[in-house]
Amino acid sequence: MLAVAVGDPPLRDPVQTGRLTLRRYQPTDVDPLLSYYGRAEVCRYLLHKPWSRPDAREAVSERINRTGWAAGAIALVVERDATVIGNLSAWKLAGTHYSAEISWVFSPDFSGHGYATEATLALLDLVLS
Ligand SMILES: CC(C)(COP(=O)(O)OP(=O)(O)OC[C@H]1O[C@@H](n2cnc3c(N)ncnc32)[C@H](O)[C@@H]1OP(=O)(O)O)[C@@H](O)C(=O)NCCC(=O)NCCS
Repeated sequence: MLAVAVGDPPLRDPVQTGRLTLRRYQPTDVDPLLSYYGRAEVCRYLLHKPWSRPDAREAVSERINRTGWAAGAIALVVERDATVIGNLSAWKLAGTHYSAEISWVFSPDFSGHGYATEATLALLDLVLS
């Protein structure tokens, strides 16, 4: 859980880190996300089963609207060299003004390079700025 800044600063988009681009969702993200959310090992500790294609479509259409605190949440896709490798979210906790949670999911195909670490630090900068 995070203590977040009050107010509703506009979401910078995209956010560049040393190696990664964090950007808002777009309709073409369905297949890239399905490529890892469809895998059992990725969903093992998540609160849902591996996604089907309709699951991926529904999730992307919801996440497109998560553009900042005014929308209640920030949802970003993470790209490395124009390839989607993971995604991040932050959302305000219901009933609070200052608390938020974050989550991150990355493709195992790109694990072990510190990408999840690098992207999550950038998300923290974003939500705490
Ligand atoms: C958890 C998860 C995000 C980790 O992804 P990842 O890509 O392996 O993460 P990173 O590459 O940033 O870190 C993995 C390792 O790389 C190391 N690493 C390599 N290069 C690094 C660098 N340049 N900077 C930082 N760490 C680096 C880290 O130290 C870390 O080592 P450790 O596993 O011994 O602790 C990923 O496995 C996942 O999405 N799992 C399924 C979903 C999930 O459980 N999400 C979390 C709950 S919301």
